[in-house]
Amino acid sequence: VKKFARRHAEGGRKPAQTAVIGAGIMGGGIAYTTALRGTPVRMKDIAQGALDLGMGEARRQLAKQVESGRLAQEKADKVLAAITPQTDDSGFGEVELAVEAVVENLGVKHEVMAALQQALRPGTVLASNTSSLRIDDIAAPLPRPEDVAGLHFFNPVPVMPLVEVVRGSRSSAEAVATATAYASGLGKTPIVVKDCPGFLVNRILTPYIIAFCDLVAEGADYEQVDRAMEAFGWPMGPAYLEDVVGMDTGSHVIDVISAGYPGRMRPPERNAIRALVAAKRLGQKSGGGFYDYDAAGGKPKR
Ligand code: 3HC
Repeated sequence: VKKFARRHAEGGRKPAQTAVIGAGIMGGGIAYTTALRGTPVRMKDIAQGALDLGMGEARRQLAKQVESGRLAQEKADKVLAAITPQTDDSGFGEVELAVEAVVENLGVKHEVMAALQQALRPGTVLASNTSSLRIDDIAAPLPRPEDVAGLHFFNPVPVMPLVEVVRGSRSSAEAVATATAYASGLGKTPIVVKDCPGFLVNRILTPYIIAFCDLVAEGADYEQVDRAMEAFGWPMGPAYLEDVVGMDTGSHVIDVISAGYPGRMRPPERNAIRALVAAKRLGQKSGGGFYDYDAAGGKPKR
């Protein structure tokens, strides 16, 4: 995988200045990881409250590192100072790579990314952290589709090693190389994947989550399914995993991917994940999903 990533990163240079749009779980995690690896990052959100939450989470992660003796306080201060929270586009003219991590909705992404390309210089990579939408569909109406690629991170961003770099049919070789070099610079394992609904990982993960919904609909206890899958050797069972991912994102991924492969994948007939969205139990981020959580997230109360 490393050799493969090196080949795609050829000619790509790790960006010196970056931006992340969206300060939610994914955007905040990407900004924190970028700063931790020594690259300045502008974290933009339209909501000051979201920026405060994103910065609060970065502070919490850094305090944990300092407490455990793995990071000096001085270094932690530097990491925090490398993140600039902002509600406008100031400084975007100097940015070399921007990651869009807004809500998984094609219309919203078009609006946000078209406005961003007005602020970014031509040639600046604009990467989407979409979990399932095709990059070609995202890039089609944008002024510079050649600058657009996918950078799909996994949750929790600071600890998950894989990043999918998605090459759209109009993505330039430079955009893919820079996105790959950026992911490598974060200490991640980038893989370049084709542009299709769900890319690689979510095409494998989605049938598993659909099968889990079917089991629950047939009367299985989600906690017992989790315990079984954890005893099987996976780090967390499907219910806990969906709590980490967020029920709204999880539900959207199922819809987009099952619609993308008609006849090969079908949405669950009784969808426990959609029912939790309707009940506003979005997972760890809302304090409860399948399980309940403390304010700081952490492990489920079982
Ligand atoms: N942020 C930062 N660090 C975190 C974290 C978080 N949210 N959660 C856990 N960690 C760190 C801990 O601090 C700890 O670090 P340390 O070993 O240096 O002290 C380390 O991760 C292990 O944590 P724990 O001991 O508390 O817990 P676990 O051993 O259960 O590990 C886990 C936690 C790494 C999250 C592990 O359970 C795991 O790998 N789970 C699978 C997650 C997964 O599959 N994610 C992909 C979801 S799909 C997705 O995102 C795609 C989207 O498109 C839908």
